[in-house]
Amino acid sequence: MESEPLLNIADYARAARGKLSSDVCDYFDGGALDEITLRENTAGWERLKLHYRVLAGVGARDLSTTVLGQPVSMPIAVAPTAFHKLACDEGEVATARAAKAAGTLFVLSSLSNTAMEHVFAEAASPRWFQLYIYKDRQVTQELVRRAEAAGAEAIVLTVDAPGLGTRERDTRNRFRLRDGLAVENLAPLGKGQMPEVAGSGLAAYVRENFKADLGFDDLDWLCESTRLPVVVKGVCRGDDARRAAEHGAKALVVSNHGGRQLDTAPSTCEVLPHVVDAAGDLCEIYVDGGIRRGSDVLKAIALGARAVLVGRPVLWGLCVAGEQGAMSVLAILRRELDEAMLLCGCTKLSDIGRWLLAP
Ligand code: GLV
Repeated sequence: MESEPLLNIADYARAARGKLSSDVCDYFDGGALDEITLRENTAGWERLKLHYRVLAGVGARDLSTTVLGQPVSMPIAVAPTAFHKLACDEGEVATARAAKAAGTLFVLSSLSNTAMEHVFAEAASPRWFQLYIYKDRQVTQELVRRAEAAGAEAIVLTVDAPGLGTRERDTRNRFRLRDGLAVENLAPLGKGQMPEVAGSGLAAYVRENFKADLGFDDLDWLCESTRLPVVVKGVCRGDDARRAAEHGAKALVVSNHGGRQLDTAPSTCEVLPHVVDAAGDLCEIYVDGGIRRGSDVLKAIALGARAVLVGRPVLWGLCVAGEQGAMSVLAILRRELDEAMLLCGCTKLSDIGRWLLAP
């Protein structure tokens, strides 16, 4: 029997859940504690309504833009997410190739199952590297040095994870990488494996390795340690946003880590306009969290984001059909954004503004 066509991101999520073991599914899909922020991220975009304009004479649409000055075919980028070999055998190489085919930004997580040198060799520009600050400064320094040498064009510093938010699904499942998989970027530094403990192996890994007293001095240190632009990811407040930009961040990602860190943090669509108002004059602002439709992308741009990052949808694509699946997910979001622009009366991204969200 022919299987049903996968038309949208929800179809990919369902199909991925049918293929994955329940512990991996829980790891990818789950959030912190009661998963309120996780649900609110998607619900927030759904609640925003589009007050479209008619008779706007829109013909062909132009979705292209730039991120930190580098051209991309659309304002939809691949977010850094961990452990892609749990989704498909080719892991992060498949993801990098999918982003390249889509002509968009690829951000590699430092918690990848493939060493960054192999992944970046398959990735086109723009390609950025996501970083956590390790307790051991030399470990962090070495990751930055390798990322620069491997062709990364920015460092994305995640600032919302001085510890891992408790994901009760992972605690119950005793989540860890299966035999044969490792945190490959860290393996040469002796930090490639999760400790054998009760509960989540990842939570224990983070407790053991990540710098818990992360501060603006760490951002200063990073900006001084690399020639690459630094992007700060995980901001939810205007005051933090402005301070991060004043400390050297060239861009910010409004993010609550996909609802995986502090539960009951506000949805990203709620805080995005405040961050834009506070720091949009100093740096570029992107957003992630709960983007499931092209219309969500349009709403994010209306609120002042330059681009969005998508995490779980890409993982679901990888689970369903590897590189091809991730490409299809990106193509669906692109097509939906294009249609939403047509129906809203917008020819180009700069036509999209807050006016769309109010009568
Ligand atoms: C890693 O970044 C995770 O959220 O699990």
